[in-house]
Amino acid sequence: MEYNKPQIITFDKIGSSQLGYITIAETQKNVPFEIQRVYWTYYTPHDVTRGGHAHKELQQIIFAVSGTIVFNTEDKNGHKETFTLDHPTKGLYIPKLVWRDIQFSHNAVLLCLASELYEEEDYFRDFEEFKKAAEER
Ligand code: TYD
Repeated sequence: MEYNKPQIITFDKIGSSQLGYITIAETQKNVPFEIQRVYWTYYTPHDVTRGGHAHKELQQIIFAVSGTIVFNTEDKNGHKETFTLDHPTKGLYIPKLVWRDIQFSHNAVLLCLASELYEEEDYFRDFEEFKKAAEER
């Protein structure tokens, strides 16, 4: 698999409908980077759009461990895609330099595995600034 564009990775599940399921993410096994940070978001109202940024270096894999989360992405070449996370086995891999807007169902819990510690300097929060810098890379 080539990790240079946003893509859904389907993680294996172990279990059964009788017993329930477990899904595992492991550095270098099914996660193509060293996991440095994990965060989760919850209780986002349905009418709120989060995201609105891109990262300079950060790689992420994002799960909807509950509910449904829709990502609208735009890469540095202006290529736009929509990804729907509607099952706990689906992880969205997002490389660096991808703008994203995110919408949540009322019960959604977003879990993010991140390749770097939090650094505000790693964010593009201005779309025009992102497009301009991305063209130069
Ligand atoms: P942000 O990444 O903008 O969230 P979203 O894309 O979900 O809208 O982060 C929201 C706020 O949380 C912002 O003030 C930065 C802060 N934050 C941290 O302090 N550490 C972190 O690891 C993350 C992801 C965010």
